[in-house]
Amino acid sequence: MKTATLLDGKKLAASLRADIAAQVAELKAKHGITPGLGVILIGADPASVSYVTAKEKACGEAGIHSQSLRVPAETTQDEALALVRRMNADPLIHGILVQLPLPRHIAEEAVINAIAPEKDVDGFTPVNVGRMMIGEDCFLPCTPHGIIQMLISAGVEVSGKHAVVVGRSNIVGKPVAHLLMRKAPGGNATVTVCHTATRDLPSFTRRADILVVAAGRAGTVTGDMVKPGAVVIDVGVNRIPDATKASGFRLVGDVDFDSAAEVASLITPVPGGVGPMTITMLLHNTLQAAQRKKD
Ligand code: GUN
Repeated sequence: MKTATLLDGKKLAASLRADIAAQVAELKAKHGITPGLGVILIGADPASVSYVTAKEKACGEAGIHSQSLRVPAETTQDEALALVRRMNADPLIHGILVQLPLPRHIAEEAVINAIAPEKDVDGFTPVNVGRMMIGEDCFLPCTPHGIIQMLISAGVEVSGKHAVVVGRSNIVGKPVAHLLMRKAPGGNATVTVCHTATRDLPSFTRRADILVVAAGRAGTVTGDMVKPGAVVIDVGVNRIPDATKASGFRLVGDVDFDSAAEVASLITPVPGGVGPMTITMLLHNTLQAAQRKKD
């Protein structure tokens, strides 16, 4: 039986987006600036197409102009770099997002490095990552920032707690571990990072007051691996075949929701947990990038 309370990312995202939309309207009215997001999608990976479509829709609803370049998977690295440079030079574009992963023949690092740091609303460039690590003003990466905002909004006391992160990706695991550790609201935790070489994963997850799972694999964490009363944040988005759905699949996280919800105090659902917050933080960063053009 479920005893945990849901951490409703959709609801929090809706209220934050209303506030962002109001600030966008004010920026337009007072300064004549419409925030613009440039999106580059290379190839047609179904999950990436679905994320990009959701990001474009959210921009529209917030009054943010979005310009998408959807190009074939055969696009060369030089062509991809040219697309980024074009957006770097476009004054109507304040933020640039290159949807990851990229096709294998393109070096992700080279494309990310080409994004002008002042337009890097994903917070992926070395300049932004470096600034974040030393506590300078920067664009925070969207998923980790969204997670911290959820913890703060739910009144979770993070300071002094043991946070365990499962996963060490550049997009989620590494930066969320940093934000949980830094001396700031929603941070100041003692942080353990687990990954594919971790021996006896359950022995770590069972010691987590706050458990963030970003492993990219369904069923990574089950209820018996959760400490009673823990806060569980599930970052996973996995497509599981489901003949009862029109799409032929359903989305599940990295955590076995039913068993974990019997043990946790708070838990994020998938979908409707972290996902909507990621997009909201992207809107937040794009607005911030445009606001810097005020004077
Ligand atoms: N792929 C998965 N998550 C993300 C994200 O937050 N930003 C981009 N650009 N690509 C992603």
